[in-house]
Amino acid sequence: MAAIEIKNLWKEYGQDVVLERLNASVEEGEFVTVVGASGCGKTTFLKMMLGTESPTRGELLLDGKPIPDEPDETRGIVFQRYSVLPHLTAVENVMLAGELESSPWLGRVFGAKRRALREQAEEMLASVGLDQALRKYPHELSGGMQQRLALAQALIKKPRILLLDEPFGALDPGIRRDMHELVLDLWREQDLTVFMITHDLAEGFFLGTRMWVFDKERLDPQTPGSYGARITYDLPVGNSDKGTLQSISQSVDSTARVLSA
Ligand SMILES: Nc1ncnc2c1ncn2[C@@H]1O[C@H](COP(=O)(O)OP(=O)(O)O)[C@@H](O)[C@H]1O
Ligand SMILES: [Mg+2]
Repeated sequence: MAAIEIKNLWKEYGQDVVLERLNASVEEGEFVTVVGASGCGKTTFLKMMLGTESPTRGELLLDGKPIPDEPDETRGIVFQRYSVLPHLTAVENVMLAGELESSPWLGRVFGAKRRALREQAEEMLASVGLDQALRKYPHELSGGMQQRLALAQALIKKPRILLLDEPFGALDPGIRRDMHELVLDLWREQDLTVFMITHDLAEGFFLGTRMWVFDKERLDPQTPGSYGARITYDLPVGNSDKGTLQSISQSVDSTARVLSA
Protein backbone atom coordinates (compact mmCIF):
# COMPACT_ATOMS: atom_id res chain seq x y z
CA MET A 1 0.00 0.00 0.00
CA ALA A 2 1.26 3.45 -0.90
CA ALA A 3 1.77 5.89 2.00
CA ILE A 4 -0.64 8.37 0.49
CA GLU A 5 -3.59 7.47 -1.68
CA ILE A 6 -5.81 9.95 -3.44
CA LYS A 7 -9.01 8.39 -4.69
CA ASN A 8 -11.51 10.28 -6.82
CA LEU A 9 -10.91 13.42 -4.75
CA TRP A 10 -13.11 16.49 -5.28
CA LYS A 11 -13.19 19.92 -3.67
CA GLU A 12 -16.05 22.31 -4.28
CA TYR A 13 -16.92 25.64 -2.73
CA GLY A 14 -20.67 26.03 -3.20
CA GLN A 15 -21.26 25.95 -6.98
CA ASP A 16 -17.59 26.26 -7.82
CA VAL A 17 -15.67 23.10 -8.54
CA VAL A 18 -12.02 23.69 -7.66
CA LEU A 19 -10.62 20.17 -8.00
CA GLU A 20 -12.22 17.08 -9.51
CA ARG A 21 -11.42 13.41 -9.88
CA LEU A 22 -7.88 13.49 -8.54
CA ASN A 23 -6.32 10.04 -8.41
CA ALA A 24 -2.75 9.21 -7.41
CA SER A 25 -0.64 7.08 -5.11
CA VAL A 26 2.48 8.49 -3.48
CA GLU A 27 5.17 6.36 -1.88
CA GLU A 28 7.04 7.33 1.25
CA GLY A 29 10.08 9.42 0.30
CA GLU A 30 8.80 10.85 -2.97
CA PHE A 31 9.32 14.54 -3.73
CA VAL A 32 6.25 15.70 -5.62
CA THR A 33 6.33 19.15 -7.18
CA VAL A 34 3.01 20.72 -8.16
CA VAL A 35 2.63 23.34 -10.87
CA GLY A 36 -0.40 24.95 -12.46
CA ALA A 37 -2.11 28.24 -13.25
CA SER A 38 -2.78 30.59 -10.39
CA GLY A 39 -6.24 29.90 -8.94
CA CYS A 40 -6.48 26.30 -10.15
CA GLY A 41 -6.51 24.75 -6.67
CA LYS A 42 -2.91 23.95 -5.71
CA THR A 43 -3.10 25.57 -2.28
CA THR A 44 -6.52 23.99 -1.73
CA PHE A 45 -4.97 20.58 -2.34
CA LEU A 46 -2.15 21.33 0.13
CA LYS A 47 -4.71 22.45 2.74
CA MET A 48 -6.49 19.12 2.38
CA MET A 49 -3.13 17.38 2.93
CA LEU A 50 -2.62 19.54 6.03
CA GLY A 51 -6.16 18.95 7.29
CA THR A 52 -7.45 22.52 7.37
CA GLU A 53 -9.80 21.79 4.43
CA SER A 54 -11.76 18.60 3.81
CA PRO A 55 -12.54 16.94 0.50
CA THR A 56 -16.16 17.27 -0.61
CA ARG A 57 -16.02 13.86 -2.32
CA GLY A 58 -13.57 10.99 -2.52
CA GLU A 59 -10.78 9.97 -0.21
CA LEU A 60 -7.39 11.18 0.89
CA LEU A 61 -5.66 8.39 2.76
CA LEU A 62 -2.48 8.21 4.83
CA ASP A 63 -1.49 4.57 5.49
CA GLY A 64 -4.95 3.52 4.37
CA LYS A 65 -6.79 5.80 6.81
CA PRO A 66 -8.41 9.18 6.14
CA ILE A 67 -5.80 11.89 6.69
CA PRO A 68 -6.46 13.55 10.09
CA ASP A 69 -8.80 16.50 9.57
CA GLU A 70 -6.71 18.83 11.66
CA PRO A 71 -3.00 19.63 11.51
CA ASP A 72 -0.78 17.36 13.62
CA GLU A 73 2.86 16.35 13.99
CA THR A 74 2.75 14.08 10.90
CA ARG A 75 2.69 17.12 8.60
CA GLY A 76 4.70 20.35 8.57
CA ILE A 77 3.98 23.30 6.30
CA VAL A 78 5.82 26.35 4.98
CA PHE A 79 4.05 29.15 3.13
CA GLN A 80 5.51 31.77 0.80
CA ARG A 81 5.41 34.29 3.65
CA TYR A 82 4.34 34.75 7.25
CA SER A 83 4.84 31.21 8.49
CA VAL A 84 6.61 32.44 11.64
CA LEU A 85 5.46 34.67 14.49
CA PRO A 86 6.92 38.19 14.43
CA HIS A 87 7.04 38.71 18.22
CA LEU A 88 9.12 35.61 18.95
CA THR A 89 12.84 35.13 18.36
CA ALA A 90 14.06 32.41 15.99
CA VAL A 91 14.66 29.93 18.79
CA GLU A 92 11.34 30.77 20.45
CA ASN A 93 9.48 30.26 17.17
CA VAL A 94 10.96 26.78 16.84
CA MET A 95 10.32 25.92 20.52
CA LEU A 96 6.69 26.98 20.34
CA ALA A 97 5.22 23.72 19.00
CA GLY A 98 6.82 21.77 21.87
CA GLU A 99 5.68 24.32 24.43
CA LEU A 100 2.10 24.26 23.21
CA GLU A 101 2.13 20.49 23.27
CA SER A 102 3.35 20.31 26.88
CA SER A 103 1.34 23.26 28.11
CA PRO A 104 -1.64 24.00 25.85
CA TRP A 105 -2.91 26.84 28.09
CA LEU A 106 0.22 28.72 28.96
CA GLY A 107 2.29 27.89 25.88
CA ARG A 108 5.34 27.93 28.15
CA VAL A 109 7.28 25.29 30.00
CA PHE A 110 10.01 25.70 32.59
CA GLY A 111 13.15 24.09 33.99
CA ALA A 112 14.70 20.95 32.52
CA LYS A 113 11.90 20.52 30.00
CA ARG A 114 12.47 24.02 28.68
CA ARG A 115 16.21 23.44 28.41
CA ALA A 116 15.58 20.25 26.43
CA LEU A 117 13.21 22.04 24.03
CA ARG A 118 15.71 24.84 23.61
CA GLU A 119 18.49 22.38 22.82
CA GLN A 120 16.37 20.62 20.18
CA ALA A 121 15.37 23.94 18.67
CA GLU A 122 18.99 25.10 18.52
CA GLU A 123 20.01 21.87 16.79
CA MET A 124 17.20 22.23 14.28
CA LEU A 125 18.20 25.85 13.61
CA ALA A 126 21.81 24.78 13.10
CA SER A 127 20.69 22.20 10.53
CA VAL A 128 19.04 24.95 8.47
CA GLY A 129 22.10 27.19 8.82
CA LEU A 130 20.72 29.60 11.41
CA ASP A 131 23.04 28.87 14.33
CA GLN A 132 24.19 32.50 14.30
CA ALA A 133 20.66 33.90 14.47
CA LEU A 134 19.06 32.11 17.42
CA ARG A 135 18.04 35.26 19.24
CA LYS A 136 17.05 37.38 16.28
CA TYR A 137 13.46 38.35 15.54
CA PRO A 138 11.98 37.59 12.10
CA HIS A 139 12.17 41.25 11.00
CA GLU A 140 15.93 41.15 11.63
CA LEU A 141 16.31 38.24 9.20
CA SER A 142 16.60 38.34 5.40
CA GLY A 143 13.85 36.72 3.30
CA GLY A 144 15.94 33.60 2.80
CA MET A 145 16.72 33.36 6.51
CA GLN A 146 13.01 33.73 7.36
CA GLN A 147 12.25 30.77 5.10
CA ARG A 148 15.06 28.78 6.75
CA LEU A 149 13.39 29.57 10.06
CA ALA A 150 9.99 28.51 8.70
CA LEU A 151 11.54 25.20 7.59
CA ALA A 152 13.04 24.65 11.05
CA GLN A 153 9.65 25.35 12.60
CA ALA A 154 7.89 22.97 10.22
CA LEU A 155 10.39 20.18 10.87
CA ILE A 156 10.88 20.37 14.65
CA LYS A 157 8.19 17.75 15.37
CA LYS A 158 9.83 15.34 12.88
CA PRO A 159 6.91 15.16 10.45
CA ARG A 160 6.79 12.48 7.75
CA ILE A 161 5.28 14.86 5.27
CA LEU A 162 6.53 18.32 4.42
CA LEU A 163 4.14 20.64 2.59
CA LEU A 164 5.65 23.64 0.81
CA ASP A 165 3.48 26.34 -0.79
CA GLU A 166 5.71 28.39 -3.11
CA PRO A 167 8.22 28.71 -0.28
CA PHE A 168 10.92 30.37 -2.37
CA GLY A 169 8.69 32.39 -4.69
CA ALA A 170 9.58 35.70 -3.04
CA LEU A 171 13.34 35.14 -2.93
CA ASP A 172 16.10 36.34 -5.26
CA PRO A 173 17.42 33.70 -7.69
CA GLY A 174 20.81 33.36 -5.98
CA ILE A 175 19.22 32.83 -2.58
CA ARG A 176 16.72 30.44 -4.12
CA ARG A 177 19.56 28.19 -5.28
CA ASP A 178 20.90 27.96 -1.72
CA MET A 179 17.41 27.10 -0.52
CA HIS A 180 17.17 24.34 -3.14
CA GLU A 181 20.31 22.72 -1.75
CA LEU A 182 18.94 23.03 1.76
CA VAL A 183 15.55 21.53 0.98
CA LEU A 184 17.15 18.59 -0.86
CA ASP A 185 19.48 17.98 2.11
CA LEU A 186 16.57 18.08 4.57
CA TRP A 187 14.46 15.78 2.37
CA ARG A 188 17.24 13.18 2.30
CA GLU A 189 18.41 13.51 5.91
CA GLN A 190 14.96 13.53 7.50
CA ASP A 191 13.36 10.87 5.25
CA LEU A 192 10.57 13.20 4.23
CA THR A 193 7.80 12.87 1.71
CA VAL A 194 7.53 16.32 0.15
CA PHE A 195 4.74 18.10 -1.73
CA MET A 196 5.95 21.41 -3.06
CA ILE A 197 3.94 23.94 -5.06
CA THR A 198 5.96 26.15 -7.32
CA HIS A 199 5.13 28.54 -10.16
CA ASP A 200 8.56 27.89 -11.62
CA LEU A 201 8.56 24.86 -13.95
CA ALA A 202 12.36 24.66 -13.91
CA GLU A 203 12.33 24.56 -10.10
CA GLY A 204 9.71 21.80 -10.25
CA PHE A 205 11.87 19.77 -12.61
CA PHE A 206 15.08 20.32 -10.69
CA LEU A 207 13.78 19.50 -7.22
CA GLY A 208 11.14 16.83 -7.69
CA THR A 209 11.26 13.10 -8.25
CA ARG A 210 7.80 13.52 -9.71
CA MET A 211 5.87 16.48 -11.04
CA TRP A 212 2.13 17.02 -11.15
CA VAL A 213 0.49 19.55 -13.38
CA PHE A 214 -2.89 20.77 -12.13
CA ASP A 215 -5.00 22.00 -15.00
CA LYS A 216 -8.60 22.18 -16.12
CA GLU A 217 -9.31 19.64 -18.86
CA ARG A 218 -12.59 21.37 -19.59
CA LEU A 219 -12.88 25.10 -19.26
CA ASP A 220 -15.92 27.22 -19.93
CA PRO A 221 -14.72 30.86 -20.08
CA GLN A 222 -18.22 32.05 -19.10
CA THR A 223 -18.31 29.93 -15.94
CA PRO A 224 -14.77 28.84 -15.07
CA GLY A 225 -16.10 27.29 -11.83
CA SER A 226 -18.15 24.63 -13.67
CA TYR A 227 -15.23 22.26 -13.89
CA GLY A 228 -12.35 21.63 -11.54
CA ALA A 229 -8.68 21.10 -12.21
CA ARG A 230 -7.26 17.60 -12.44
CA ILE A 231 -3.78 16.14 -12.48
CA THR A 232 -3.24 16.42 -16.23
CA TYR A 233 0.39 15.31 -16.18
CA ASP A 234 2.02 13.02 -13.64
CA LEU A 235 5.66 12.84 -14.67
CA PRO A 236 8.69 11.11 -13.28
CA VAL A 237 10.95 14.12 -13.42
CA GLY A 238 14.16 13.97 -15.37
CA ASN A 239 12.75 11.88 -18.24
CA SER A 240 10.70 14.60 -19.81
CA ASP A 241 11.74 16.05 -23.12
CA LYS A 242 11.59 19.64 -24.23
CA GLY A 243 8.39 19.14 -26.23
CA THR A 244 6.54 17.92 -23.14
CA LEU A 245 7.81 20.90 -21.16
CA GLN A 246 6.64 23.28 -23.85
CA SER A 247 3.17 21.81 -24.08
CA ILE A 248 2.78 21.89 -20.29
CA SER A 249 3.86 25.48 -20.22
CA GLN A 250 1.43 26.47 -23.02
CA SER A 251 -1.52 24.69 -21.46
CA VAL A 252 -0.86 26.22 -18.02
CA ASP A 253 -0.54 29.68 -19.58
CA SER A 254 -3.83 29.41 -21.45
CA THR A 255 -5.69 28.27 -18.32
CA ALA A 256 -4.06 31.14 -16.42
CA ARG A 257 -5.34 33.65 -18.98
CA VAL A 258 -8.92 32.42 -18.55
CA LEU A 259 -8.75 32.27 -14.73
CA SER A 260 -7.32 35.78 -14.44
CA ALA A 261 -9.73 37.32 -16.99
N1 LIG B 1 -12.27 29.26 1.46
C1 LIG B 1 -12.63 29.42 0.18
N2 LIG B 1 -13.90 29.69 -0.17
C2 LIG B 1 -14.28 29.84 -1.45
N3 LIG B 1 -13.43 29.73 -2.49
C3 LIG B 1 -12.15 29.46 -2.23
C4 LIG B 1 -11.68 29.29 -0.88
N4 LIG B 1 -10.34 29.01 -0.93
C5 LIG B 1 -10.02 29.03 -2.24
N5 LIG B 1 -11.09 29.29 -3.02
C6 LIG B 1 -11.09 29.37 -4.49
O1 LIG B 1 -10.56 28.16 -4.98
C7 LIG B 1 -9.81 28.40 -6.16
C8 LIG B 1 -8.43 27.79 -5.99
O2 LIG B 1 -7.68 28.54 -5.07
P1 LIG B 1 -6.21 28.14 -4.64
O3 LIG B 1 -6.21 26.72 -4.17
O4 LIG B 1 -5.71 29.14 -3.68
O5 LIG B 1 -5.42 28.22 -6.04
P2 LIG B 1 -3.85 28.21 -6.33
O6 LIG B 1 -3.12 27.90 -5.06
O7 LIG B 1 -3.66 27.17 -7.39
O8 LIG B 1 -3.51 29.57 -6.86
C9 LIG B 1 -9.80 29.89 -6.38
O9 LIG B 1 -10.80 30.19 -7.33
C10 LIG B 1 -10.19 30.45 -5.03
O10 LIG B 1 -10.86 31.66 -5.15
MG1 LIG C 1 -1.71 29.02 -4.03
